[in-house]
Amino acid sequence: MILGIETSCDETAAAVITDDGHVLASVVSSQADLHSRYGGVVPEIASRRHLDLVAPVVREALDSAGASLDGVSKVAVTQGPGLVGALLVGVSAAKAIAWARQLPLVPVDHLEGHVASLYLEPDPLEPPFVCLLVSGGHTLLLAVRERGSSERLGTTLDDAAGEAFDKGARLLGLRYPGGAEIDRIAQDGDPSAFPFPVARVPGLDFSFSGLKTALLYAVRDLGVEETERRRADLAASYQAAIVRALARRIDEAASATGLDGVAVVGGVAANSNLRAALPDVRFAPLDLCTDNAAMIASAARYVEALPYPGYLGLDAYPSFS
Ligand code: KG4
Ligand code: ZN
Repeated sequence: MILGIETSCDETAAAVITDDGHVLASVVSSQADLHSRYGGVVPEIASRRHLDLVAPVVREALDSAGASLDGVSKVAVTQGPGLVGALLVGVSAAKAIAWARQLPLVPVDHLEGHVASLYLEPDPLEPPFVCLLVSGGHTLLLAVRERGSSERLGTTLDDAAGEAFDKGARLLGLRYPGGAEIDRIAQDGDPSAFPFPVARVPGLDFSFSGLKTALLYAVRDLGVEETERRRADLAASYQAAIVRALARRIDEAASATGLDGVAVVGGVAANSNLRAALPDVRFAPLDLCTDNAAMIASAARYVEALPYPGYLGLDAYPSFS
């Protein structure tokens, strides 16, 4: 069994999977409530909360898998990218567990982790495919030709898709993290009520800052009461613009690469409108879209493990190299 640990942002997560990709337990303790009153993640608060939670979350994952550390053959941990203080808590915990049990340690890239959410049982996906990774921190189009590696086709020039959802939600007076809130409220709204723009940028890149500004102006023009009254329409129209932008690029990436398989992973892959708009596209399982440790343990199957005891100096990295 592989024990996975993930602490890159505001979720403290641990999971136990088998080498062949069966998830025995996946425990996620979200700190969202702790950060929501600040309107976003406060790094120092996140690190301290990870410190409180990491040991109980690991214990709960082992317990609910009906496993003990005796059955674990390697420990996988997110090494980056993410908040460096938050990452260091997971990396230190993973080192301590692995070192105490003389186990190998596997440092995992968080983004490869999201892609590897597609490789878990009961319905694992085989490359090659085009993968759209849409989370709070990243928007990436990847060509995945084999498990464990990917080629970057495009990225965002400004905000990530999840960040666009979160910032839009904030303008509409919704709680952080706002993606799921917009998703919920938009169900009662008219997606064509407001003609929000989709940015045209060259190649396979994305841009969401213009859309965010368009919402800002719309909210300003409407005023507080009218914004409140039209909130569902605003949310639905804003969401529709993001979904349009993502869907268009997926089509273009599939044509550009000639790959027929297409998949979407990351927190925004949970969006019900995006899922409905792309019926032929493979989505990560709902419970594995937002940050979790099962995907990190899954990715560890395709990364070379660092043998005991050579990993005590392992560092975290905050952004892509
Ligand atoms: O992958 P993730 O948990 O964390 C990062 O690695 O960033 O993604 C979190 C992002 C947040 O921006 C959140 O608002 C967004 O995913 N999100 C959604 C939905 N659920 C989460 N966005 C749109 N619709 C949703 N249902
Ligand atoms: Zn993530």
